[in-house]
Amino acid sequence: MTTRSAGAIRSNGYESETELTTPRTVFNTATSLDGYIATADHSLDWLLSRESDEAGPMGFPEFLARVGAIVMGANTYQWILDNQGAQPWPYEVPCWVCTHRDFPARTDADIRFTCAEIPELHRTMTDMANGRDLWIVGGGELAGTFADYGLLDEIIVSVAPVTLGAGAPLLPRELELRVTEVAVNGEFACLRYGVVGDHS
Ligand SMILES: NC(=O)c1ccc[n+]([C@@H]2O[C@H](COP(=O)([O-])OP(=O)(O)OC[C@H]3O[C@@H](n4cnc5c(N)ncnc54)[C@H](OP(=O)(O)O)[C@@H]3O)[C@@H](O)[C@H]2O)c1
Repeated sequence: MTTRSAGAIRSNGYESETELTTPRTVFNTATSLDGYIATADHSLDWLLSRESDEAGPMGFPEFLARVGAIVMGANTYQWILDNQGAQPWPYEVPCWVCTHRDFPARTDADIRFTCAEIPELHRTMTDMANGRDLWIVGGGELAGTFADYGLLDEIIVSVAPVTLGAGAPLLPRELELRVTEVAVNGEFACLRYGVVGDHS
C-alpha cells in the first residue's frame, strides 16, 4: 500500500518535486454529491449539462497531459460507444478495457481488451506509460479493485451540484484519504485526495 506522510502541501497539491514527478495511479472522475458517477441506467445527463473551465483550476487537460495509460470497465467503454461512437476516440495513449465480453477489435485507436488480474495489468500499463501517470476512468468497483491491491495512489473528484439518490457508486470501499487540493471550477467542487491506506 502506498503510504504518504503528512507534510506541507504545495499549491499544486503535491508535497515535493519528487512526488510531482513520481508516476501515480489516479482515479479521476466526476460524481454527484451523494457519490454516484452515473444513474442506474448509465445516464450522464446530470453531468454533461454542467459548466466548467478547462483552463481553470484542476482543469482536465492539465491532468490528461500527465497521463501515459488509461483503464476503464466494460460499462464505461460501452457508454462511450453508445454516446460518442461517431466521434474519433478521444485519447492518444494506450487504453485497456477490463471485460469478459467480446467487443469488436479497433483499428482506429490503441484499445486493448483484458481480463488480466489487476496487479499484472498495472505492471503492463506502467511499462507502457513511459513514466507518466495511469488514469482509472471508472467505474468505482474497478478503481476499488486497484485499491484492494494497494495500487491506487490518488483520487480526483469533480463534484457536480446534484444528488441522484441511486446509481453507479463512486468508490465502494473503506479507504483512509488525505485531502491535498481543493478548488472551485465552474459548477464543480474539485477535490484531490491521496490514498493513505485501508480504513480498517
Ligand atoms: N461520472 C463520470 O465521470 C464517469 C466516469 C466513468 C464512468 N462513468 C459511468 O459510470 C458507469 C460505470 O459503470 P460500472 O460501475 O458498471 O463500471 P464499469 O467498470 O464501467 O463496468 C463494470 C464492468 O466492467 C467489467 N470489469 C470491471 N472490472 C473488471 C476486471 N477486473 N476484470 C474484468 N472485467 C472487469 C465487468 O464487465 P463484464 O465482465 O461484463 O465484461 C463489469 O461488470 C458507466 O455508466 C459509465 O459511463 C461515469
